[in-house]
Amino acid sequence: MTDRLESYYANVVDSVGDGVIVLDNTGAVTLVNPAAEELAGVSRRQAMGVPFREIFKGEGPLNDMVAKTVETGMSVSDHENIVLKRGGRIVPVGASTSPLLSSSGERTGTIVLLRDLTNVRELECAVRQADRLSSLGALAAGLAHEIKNPLGGIKGAAQLLEREFPENEELREYVRVMLKEVQRVNLIVEELLALAAPGRLKLGKVNLHRVLSDILLLQKNASEGVDIYLQQYFDPSIPPILGDESLLTQLFLNLIKNAMEAVGTGGVVKVTSRVMSDYSMTQKGERRARMVAIDISDSGPGIPDDVLENMFMPFFTTKSQGTGLGLAICQKIVSEHRGMIRVDSDPARGTVFTVMLPLIQ
Ligand SMILES: Nc1ncnc2c1ncn2[C@@H]1O[C@H](COP(=O)(O)OP(=O)(O)OP(=O)(O)O)[C@@H](O)[C@H]1O
Ligand SMILES: [Mg+2]
Repeated sequence: MTDRLESYYANVVDSVGDGVIVLDNTGAVTLVNPAAEELAGVSRRQAMGVPFREIFKGEGPLNDMVAKTVETGMSVSDHENIVLKRGGRIVPVGASTSPLLSSSGERTGTIVLLRDLTNVRELECAVRQADRLSSLGALAAGLAHEIKNPLGGIKGAAQLLEREFPENEELREYVRVMLKEVQRVNLIVEELLALAAPGRLKLGKVNLHRVLSDILLLQKNASEGVDIYLQQYFDPSIPPILGDESLLTQLFLNLIKNAMEAVGTGGVVKVTSRVMSDYSMTQKGERRARMVAIDISDSGPGIPDDVLENMFMPFFTTKSQGTGLGLAICQKIVSEHRGMIRVDSDPARGTVFTVMLPLIQ
C-alpha cells in the first residue's frame, strides 16, 4: 500500500465517530481509533499489543462476543446489554464484532465496533417521560376546567358573606381564610392548565446569565433568616440563546427554589454554566446544534430512588406545602425548548439538576 493510501485509510478510521478496535489472532490489540480510546479509557499507546480481555477486564459480555467471533468466524452484535464502567460512570454501548479477513479470505483477526448509546438512552427516556406527561396533562386539564366553575361560586359566596359580617371580626377572619385558600386552589388550577396547554413560545434572544443572576439575587433577598450560600460560575463565552425568557425564568426559578428548599440553613446552592463540546443533538431537518448546560447543584440530602422515579409527575411532592407541579412544569419548558433535563443525585454529595439547551443563535 502506498503511504498516501495508508494515511488516507488511517484518517478514515480515526474520523469515525464510533470506536474501532482491531485485534490480531492472539487477541492482542493492533489498532485503536480515538473514539475507542475515549470509550475504553486507555490511550492508543497503552493499548497497543495488550490483550483485549485485559483492557476490558470485567466486561464479560463484550469478551464473550469476541470469543464467539473468533470461534465461529461470524459477526455478532448486541445493542442492549453491554455497559462499560468508566471512572465510576456507566456507559451504555452498542457493540459488534466481526472477523478481519485478508484479501485471500484468511482470518487475520477481529474487529470490535463500539457505539456510545448514552445520548440515545437519554432521548428515549425523555420521550417516555413526555408521553406519560401528555396523557396525564389531558386528564388534568379536563379536571381543572371542572374545578374552575364551582370555585368561582365559592369565591362569590365568600365575598358576599364578608359583607354580611361587617362587625364580627372573628367571622370575617374565617371568610378571609376561605378566600385565601380559594385563591391558592385557583393558582394551582391555572398552573395545571398552563402545563396541559400546547406551548406557544415567545422566542427572543435570552441572556441566560442575566436571567440566572436576577433569580439568585431575588432568592437571596427572599431567603432572609435562612443562611444559604448561593454561588454562580458562568462561562462568559456563552452567547445569548434563542428562547422564551419568561418561561426560562420560571424553569430556573423552580429548580433553584427546589435546591434551596433541599439544603436549608448552612447549605450551598451552586449555579454553573458551560458549553457542552462533546454533546450535540440532531433535530428534525436542522443541523446539529451545540448545547449549553446549566447545572444547579445543592448540598442537600440527595433524592431517594422512589422520589427520583416520580418527581417529574404532576402533583408528586414530598413537601407539606408543595403542589408538586414545579418539576412537571420544568420538564415541559425544557422540552418546548428542545432541550433535556438530567438529574444526578447522591446522598453524600447532594443533587445536580442539569438543563441542556440547544445553542442556536
Ligand atoms: N434539589 C432537590 N433535592 C432533593 N429533593 C428534590 C430536589 N428537587 C426536587 N426534589 C423532590 O422532588 C419533589 C417534586 O419537586 P417539585 O418541584 O415538582 O414539587 P415541590 O417542590 O414539592 O412543589 P412545588 O414546586 O410545586 O412547590 C419534591 O417534593 C422533592 O421531594
Ligand atoms: Mg418545587
